[in-house]
Amino acid sequence: MPRRVTLDAQLTPSVAESVGLPAPGAGQIRVRVVRAGVNFWEVMQRRGRVPAPADGVPGTEGVGVVDELGAGVTAPAVGDRVAWSKVPGSYADQVVGPADSFVSVPDEVDDDTAAGLLFQGTTAAYLCEAAWPVAQGDPVVVTSASGGVGLLLTQLLVARGAVVVGAVSSPDKAGASRDAGAARVLTYGGGLAEEIRTLHPEGVAAVFDAVGAGVVEPLVATLRPRGALVLYGAASGKEAQIGASDLGRGSLFLTRTAGRDYLPTSDVVAEYSRMLLALAGSGRLRVRVDRVLPLEDTMAAWDALESRRSIGKILLAP
Ligand SMILES: NC(=O)c1ccc[n+]([C@@H]2O[C@H](COP(=O)([O-])OP(=O)(O)OC[C@H]3O[C@@H](n4cnc5c(N)ncnc54)[C@H](OP(=O)(O)O)[C@@H]3O)[C@@H](O)[C@H]2O)c1
Repeated sequence: MPRRVTLDAQLTPSVAESVGLPAPGAGQIRVRVVRAGVNFWEVMQRRGRVPAPADGVPGTEGVGVVDELGAGVTAPAVGDRVAWSKVPGSYADQVVGPADSFVSVPDEVDDDTAAGLLFQGTTAAYLCEAAWPVAQGDPVVVTSASGGVGLLLTQLLVARGAVVVGAVSSPDKAGASRDAGAARVLTYGGGLAEEIRTLHPEGVAAVFDAVGAGVVEPLVATLRPRGALVLYGAASGKEAQIGASDLGRGSLFLTRTAGRDYLPTSDVVAEYSRMLLALAGSGRLRVRVDRVLPLEDTMAAWDALESRRSIGKILLAP
């Protein structure tokens, strides 16, 4: 019997069985899910901060094996190993979606890496390549540096030649940021901006932030003239409070990004995804896996993310 996670009216997850396999329609494929990736997005759905999943089944990313093609599909083929980051209903043992939402996984990339790479990796890639292209030698700050996006963003920034200062909530999370390539890792607190100014007296080229209110506002003062504040999340629960007068102190740039504007089509997502899988396959990009849990433990996975006990990716095994 196919199994999937569903949410009740209180947005509490449980595993349900359904009769019959989901059938792929024209242009779609069905995939047997091997691992599903857990993301902060699902925590925000549970908290009512973003809309709940349309069909009640959470999850958008994973890795698996193609087991049926809908009419008109010529690739991928049955038996191919594929990964995806934008297919709803991925907390399940079967997922159905448009064929062009899936990319083939190179043999060198293991299942856990493929399942944990694409949602956060495409975000990290658009941030440092499109939202604010970082140049060789640029000093930059990455907050939430031990989170999934933060770890991948740090690796991509270092690969572009940037010098990364990682900022994390506690010293026990510093090692992960350092392993990802951060030259220095600092913790949040009253003196963070001063510590960054001491490391980079001329100011940094960009601050990439996913925490929001409380942490990022003082970091405006660490930017060099014409530097950029790139906000892509508000994990603290509140958006940063930054106004035009704050930017006037150095002709600064401010953006608050959303994936839909930088990853608007399956072609763009697929291009970034192939680039990320190629980097992972050659050992130049690593996914840190925190733990792998059965679908039944979805609530425990979300609790671990929300309580900030995890470092790296949590995956579900159907
Ligand atoms: N705009 C986009 O396109 C986009 C795409 C993906 C994700 N995001 C956002 O980016 C953020 C991080 O996502 P992720 O996938 O990296 O998540 P993740 O792997 O689950 O990591 C969560 C991160 O958020 C931090 N965090 C959690 N609760 C916090 C709190 N109350 N105060 C301060 N920091 C807190 C954690 O910091 P510690 O580890 O230090 O506790 C950790 O670094 C989320 O806000 C998410 O919504 C945005």
